[in-house]
Amino acid sequence: MTQHPPKERIEQLRHLINDYRYHYHVLDESTMSEAAADSLKHELSQLEEQYPELVTPDSPTQRVAGVALDKFEKVTHIYPMLSLNDVFDRSEVQAWVTRIDKLLPGRTHEFFCDIKMDGLACALIYRDGVFVRAVTRGNGQIGEDVTVNVRTIPSVPMNLRTVKGYEAFLTGRTEVRGEIVIFKKDFDALNAAQKAAGKPLYANPRNLAAGTIRQLDPEQVASRPLTFRAYNLIREDAADVPTNSYAYETLRALGVAANQQASVFTSVDDIMTFVDEWADKRQQLPFNTDGLVVKVNDRQLFEELGIVGKAPRAAVAYKYPAEEATTVVKDIVISIGRTGAATPVAVFDPVHVAGTTVQHASLHNADEIARLDIRIGDTVVIFKAGDIIPQVQNVITDLRPSDSKPFYFEEALQHQYPELTFERPEGEAVYRVQGSSSDLILKRSIEYYASRGALDIDTLGEKNVNALVDAGLVKDLADIYTVTVDDLMKIDRFANISAKKLVAAIGEKKTPALEKFILGLGIRHVGTQTAIDLATAFESVDALAVATIDQLEAIDGIGTVVAESIVAWFSDPDNEALLKKFVSVGVTPHYQRKTGKLIGKAFVITGTLETMSRDQAAERIRNLGGTFQSSIAKDTDYLVAGSNVGASKLTKAKQYGTAVISEADLEELLG
Ligand code: IVH
Repeated sequence: MTQHPPKERIEQLRHLINDYRYHYHVLDESTMSEAAADSLKHELSQLEEQYPELVTPDSPTQRVAGVALDKFEKVTHIYPMLSLNDVFDRSEVQAWVTRIDKLLPGRTHEFFCDIKMDGLACALIYRDGVFVRAVTRGNGQIGEDVTVNVRTIPSVPMNLRTVKGYEAFLTGRTEVRGEIVIFKKDFDALNAAQKAAGKPLYANPRNLAAGTIRQLDPEQVASRPLTFRAYNLIREDAADVPTNSYAYETLRALGVAANQQASVFTSVDDIMTFVDEWADKRQQLPFNTDGLVVKVNDRQLFEELGIVGKAPRAAVAYKYPAEEATTVVKDIVISIGRTGAATPVAVFDPVHVAGTTVQHASLHNADEIARLDIRIGDTVVIFKAGDIIPQVQNVITDLRPSDSKPFYFEEALQHQYPELTFERPEGEAVYRVQGSSSDLILKRSIEYYASRGALDIDTLGEKNVNALVDAGLVKDLADIYTVTVDDLMKIDRFANISAKKLVAAIGEKKTPALEKFILGLGIRHVGTQTAIDLATAFESVDALAVATIDQLEAIDGIGTVVAESIVAWFSDPDNEALLKKFVSVGVTPHYQRKTGKLIGKAFVITGTLETMSRDQAAERIRNLGGTFQSSIAKDTDYLVAGSNVGASKLTKAKQYGTAVISEADLEELLG
């Protein structure tokens, strides 16, 4: 073996790892698998351990969390970090542009628009292309040195890339400004883990990102999924960066991620088109946003326009309509999820927030209730983040009625579920049904779902249910639809025939009658008649899921207790997830209208039809009260055979006594 320090190998490894990082974070593409990249990083850190004299501060290994700090040092920003004035509609954008026109008469302007990220601002300082310091915004003049923490963020490059044409940025001081965010999916995963561990949930990605950066222990920071996106590039010589669009282009070339959505426009009309385009599409962005940033593109003009107060005249933040609203808490009910966890849900007077009506929100757990000090009768601020799930932001205690009483969780459990006992395991925030046998609850709920009055699934009785759950094959109601014959064969209880029989029996019940499905969900206080009434009134699970208490109470026979129980069930995040899962495994409850000449008739179409599409046929059948099924079951009345019909379908039809009819026959039935 050679005894020479493997300088060349180390340099090659660094280059390759940096290149991987650049492609991944800036270009959103992958040059090798994560595992391969990890393996190279491992080799590099071993070499550096062996040859410490070859370690450089910008080596990818230097991202590792350093020692914990006592406090952060204060740092004065060379260029203050300004804030932005808000504009809310077209007329305010127009007024802003008119003001600029007045101040700079006779000059045309380009406007640079980007998504406004909802995170915390941070300045990264590079010296001769090497990352040396990160500073928070602080009060705009003085921030805190959070270098050790920011080092752990994978999308922050430890050195700027060397690219032809951009060499100037690798000498002297280059400041990169941007936002540190936590992606929505990462945040949801973190909260799911918190919940599973019975720990309190984080309020929103921005607070979590801000709290994380202020952590004194970089190890903690490294474990949180922070992402950096740049929006500004500053050089001592302002001429290095003539426009904001050039700043973005340069940032990407240097290996710093900047939003790809950012664009240049020349008129208010075009700015507003961009505003409208992102009004809805922003929900699909990986991070939360409440608006856009619009800046004069030319940086010389930007400077000339100057600063008023703490904000530059040359930029504004366009804010989308408020995602907050106030309402009154009518009740707090507790929903018992499939794991036996008790989730409190606040029920409100329905209120419109960011395009939808909100009438309930999960309060997550007893700790969250204590933190909010929320009481029935309180006026609360409802907040809807970029995503769909509304949350209680805070209580307006000044509006608290004099007779309000605090919410006592254990008392409420006792009141709502007198037959159950609950426990709150040491160190957990969540109450669970005692012995929680979360398995026990699951078993009983599957049994109920499969029982005769509900889905009526053949052979899925107590013993088989117990076996499925005990084997870990089924973790919620929807899972029964994913069980295969092979899965079952691994359980002692099943032989080939019994396994096939059970799988077929479950598969047959993928299009249950809506009222049976509603009943099968096991919503407290919803029995057979109520399930039928609900199906008749709402005609779909989706409509029922967003029903208001008032709408429910308007149905004969449904009172407050039942209405609240229904609302609580549909607002439990576990149940929302369960309903989505039913859809994804292909369960589509159907509602049979009570009018029309095809009432009670179920159709399956096979092969290709000449005069209408399958969807059109389905719609026409449904309009006449018939039901449309995706596959033949015992209750199928007609199999409509188009051209190219498979033999197996016909055999099945024969077996079930289903009438096989032609497309012409169908036309006649549809009249
Ligand atoms: S440009 C003069 N672009 O919004 C400040 N800022 O309200 C010019 N922000 O402190 C900033 N996304 O932390 C800009 N695409 C974006 C942004 C953005 C988020 C934040 C930034 C700034 C605050 C201004």
